[in-house]
Amino acid sequence: MSEMVRKASIFEIFNHWVLAISCILLALSGYGFLFKIELIINLFGGANMMKEIHNYIGIVFAISLFLSIFNWLKDALSFDKDDINWIACAGGYLSKNPKVPPMGKLNTGQKFFYIAILVFGTAITVTGFILWLFPENKTYILWSHLIHNISFVVIMIAVPVHIYLATVANPGTFRIMVYGTVPYKWAEKRHSKWIREVQP
Ligand code: HEM
Repeated sequence: MSEMVRKASIFEIFNHWVLAISCILLALSGYGFLFKIELIINLFGGANMMKEIHNYIGIVFAISLFLSIFNWLKDALSFDKDDINWIACAGGYLSKNPKVPPMGKLNTGQKFFYIAILVFGTAITVTGFILWLFPENKTYILWSHLIHNISFVVIMIAVPVHIYLATVANPGTFRIMVYGTVPYKWAEKRHSKWIREVQP
C-alpha cells in the first residue's frame, strides 16, 4: 500500500459531517416549506415541528459553517497564476490528456466553491436568523425572504455539484471525509504544491 498523507484532521472530518447533514436537513425542510410538500412536512412531524427543527438545525449549521469558513480560509483565498491557468484549461475536465497546473491544498474550482459557500452560506444563515427573530419587521422580512431564497437556489445547485465532484467524479476524494488521509501519489498528482509543503 502506498504511503498516506493526512489532508483533514479528525475534528475537520467531524465538522464536515455536521455541516453536510445539517445542510441536507435544512434543505429538505426548507424545500418542504417552499412547495408545501405534504410528505416532507409529515416526515418532520407537522408544519410547526418542522419550523422548530429547521430553526434549531440552523444554529448547528451556523456554528459548523463558521468553523468551516475559518478552516479553509487561508488555502481558499490565496490565488496565483496557476489559478488563472487552471481556469484557462477548465481544470482539465474537458480534455482527454489534460496538462493541469500544480495546485495547493485546494484546487481553483474548490476555491470558487468555498467562496460561493462563504457568500451564500453566510447570507442564508444571517437572513434565516432575521426571519426567526424579527418577524414583526416587514422590511427586514421582505429582504430576508428574497436573499434567503436566492441563496437557497445557489446552494442547491452548488452542493450537489460539490458532492458529485468529491465522490464519483474524482475517485479517492471521498476518503478524506472518512479517514482524512489520501495516498501520497494521489496528492502528488492533484495537489503537488501542497504535498511539497507538507512533505518537502
Ligand atoms: C454528503 C455531502 C458531502 C460530501 C460527500 C462532501 C465531501 C467533501 C470532501 C471529500 C472534501 C475535501 C476535498 C479536499 O480536501 O480535496 C470537501 C470539502 C469541502 N466541502 Fe464538502 N462534502 C459534502 C457536503 C458539503 C456541504 C453541504 C457543504 C457546504 C454547505 C460543503 C462544503 C465544503 C467546502 C467549502 C469544502 C472545501 C472546498 C472544497 O474542497 O471544495 N460540503 N467536501
